[in-house]
Formats: sequence, C-alpha cells, structure tokens
Amino acid sequence: MGSLTEKEILTAIEAATRAPSVHNTQPWLFLPGAEGIEVHADLSRRLAAIDPQGRAMHISLGAAVLNLRIALANGGHSECTLLLPDPDDPRHVATVRAEGRRSVGLEERELFVAIGRRHSNRGPFDNIRPPGPDLERLAAAAELEGAMLHFADPAERDALLGLVRTAETRRRRDSAYRAELLAWTTDDPYREDGLPLEAVGPWSEMAAMPIRDFAPEREIPGRQTVRFEWEPVVATLSVHGGDGPKQWLRAGQALQRVLLEATRRGLAASLFSQLLEDPELLGLIRGGEHRMSVQMVLRVGYAPLAPASPRRSLEEVIVRGRPVPLKPPKLT
Ligand SMILES: Cc1cc2nc3c(=O)[nH]c(=O)nc-3n(C[C@H](O)[C@H](O)[C@H](O)COP(=O)(O)O)c2cc1C
Repeated sequence: MGSLTEKEILTAIEAATRAPSVHNTQPWLFLPGAEGIEVHADLSRRLAAIDPQGRAMHISLGAAVLNLRIALANGGHSECTLLLPDPDDPRHVATVRAEGRRSVGLEERELFVAIGRRHSNRGPFDNIRPPGPDLERLAAAAELEGAMLHFADPAERDALLGLVRTAETRRRRDSAYRAELLAWTTDDPYREDGLPLEAVGPWSEMAAMPIRDFAPEREIPGRQTVRFEWEPVVATLSVHGGDGPKQWLRAGQALQRVLLEATRRGLAASLFSQLLEDPELLGLIRGGEHRMSVQMVLRVGYAPLAPASPRRSLEEVIVRGRPVPLKPPKLT
C-alpha cells in the first residue's frame, strides 16, 4: 500500500463503518497493512435466526467495502479491490488496495460526503415521484457495480410488497426472530450498535407499508400510526452469476452505490430484506427476466431527514497484526 498515510487509512475505515448493516450489527473488522486495507467478517455478529447463510452479513460487508473504495477515490487514489482473496479464510472478504494517483471529480467528492448523510428512513415518504432521470441514475449506479436495479411497475410493486408483508408476518411468529430483534434494538444511549428506538419509525396505517417492525414487543413513547405514500417507488436489486458470498459482496457494493447516489440526489431510502430471509417466498420472485438472484428490495422517495444510528468506534473495529480475533457475541 505504501502510498496511504495513517490519516487516510483512518478516514477510509471511518467511512466504511458508516455503511448500512443488517440490524446495525456492523459485522466487520479492518486490518490495515502493506497490501492495503483488509475487510474481515466478524462472525460473532452474524444473525443466527434470520441470516444462517450469511447473505445479509455479506451484503453489509460489501457496503462497507464500497465506502472504503469511495474514500480512497476521494483521497485521489485509484483502487483495486479483490473479493474473497484467501481461499483458506472465508472471513477475509476483501482487500482494497490503493494503486497510484488519480484526479478527484465532483462526483467522487459528493459520493464521499453522502456517506455521512445517508441514513435508513423508515417513515412515510412524500407523495411525489422522483423524476425519471434520477431513478435512471440510481439504476446506472447499480450497473456500475455489475448489478441490476429494477423499478417495479405498480402491479409488480403491489405483488412484491404483498410478499414482503407475508414474510414479515411469518417472521414475527418465530420466537428466535423476536429474541434477535429484542437484542438488537436498544434505548441505551451509550450502545454503539443495534437500532436506537428513534430509528424504528411509525406504524403504517392498515399495515400498508411492510417496513420491518424492529420493536414489536417494545413500548416506544409517542410511536404513531401514519399513512405512508400512496404510490411507493420500489425496486429490486439483483446480481448475476449465482447466489453465494461473492455475489452477496457485489450486491452490497451495488446497494451502497445506489444508496449514496440517492442521498446525493436528496432522496431517502429504506430497505426490506424480510423476503430474502424466507427461501420459499424468495423462490417466487426468482427466475423472472428481471429478477434473477434478487438480493434486496428497496424503496426510495423524498422525506424529512431520518435519525442516525450509532457506530462502533475505530478502536473496536481496527485490528493491527494477525490473527483476527473471534469476538464473543455482543447481544445486549
Ligand atoms: C443486508 C441488510 C439488510 C437490511 N434489512 C433491513 C430491513 O429489512 N428493514 C429495515 O428497515 N432496514 C434494513 N436494513 C437497514 C439497517 O437496519 C440499517 O442499515 C442499520 O440499522 C444502520 O442504520 P443506518 O442505515 O441508518 O446507518 C438492512 C441493511 C442491510 C445492509
């Protein structure tokens, strides 16, 4: 790596930690070294109930990898990213290397700024459809990362949201799922992971919008039932070439590029991954022309700013030297 200063390394890792992650588990560790910045999965943070395969964990890690890449690009470095570079260690999910200098364009700068401004938004969006060219730019962002963002037409959208709703209803019957939600939502202002109660959002009138309810068993003062937008703009993000860790890492990078592009354009977004956790329901949307290997369902629109969720400090996520420690689960 050589050419990255300590300050640049810390800036890049700080940016990586801003990535979205399933239940805000932040399942990452970073090893800065001569080869570049290595990204490792912290397996103790994988969600056993909803993510036995590790799909959501890898998508989260992919999003962190994209942030590292954007940070390096913003620092004037061209970068080269290797996914799963060590066949003997599947925890080592990526190495992002700085290779030479490049000029920094306005787009890189804006995407970098968007990293800190992006937050998941679980509230209602305005009843104003984003302009077509903006949605096209989101699709182009996915394409840049080898993925496809498909905006559903009204009939597809209603069918998709119906499946998400079914997935959400099924999930809630599962006591292990509910226990995981309880463990990963928190009213502790000092906690550095999990969802703070302010980020849970309101209930949707008539359960029309199947936002994941992160607090079905918690009392949140002032939580209201509100009407969501009438014509939600919903898209699926798909990747080609199978359905395993490498594809999930690609999907995570594409997802994050889409989310940053959305933020840059003043658009809010929320994710629905309940469907991805239900193999039977997921099977129903696989195989269509535009729905090969769907890895995420998302909603975009205009909305007031959503609250930020906390992040672990750099000391918690940076590992100097080997081996990568296996940390015990931090579930309370
Ligand atoms: C793989 C993955 C799955 C997610 N699934 C959902 C979901 O089903 N519902 C939801 O509201 N948010 C979902 N999120 C968003 C996370 O909850 C969110 O990123 C995390 O709490 C951190 O908050 P932030 O995005 O505001 O920084 C998901 C994020 C990732 C990366």
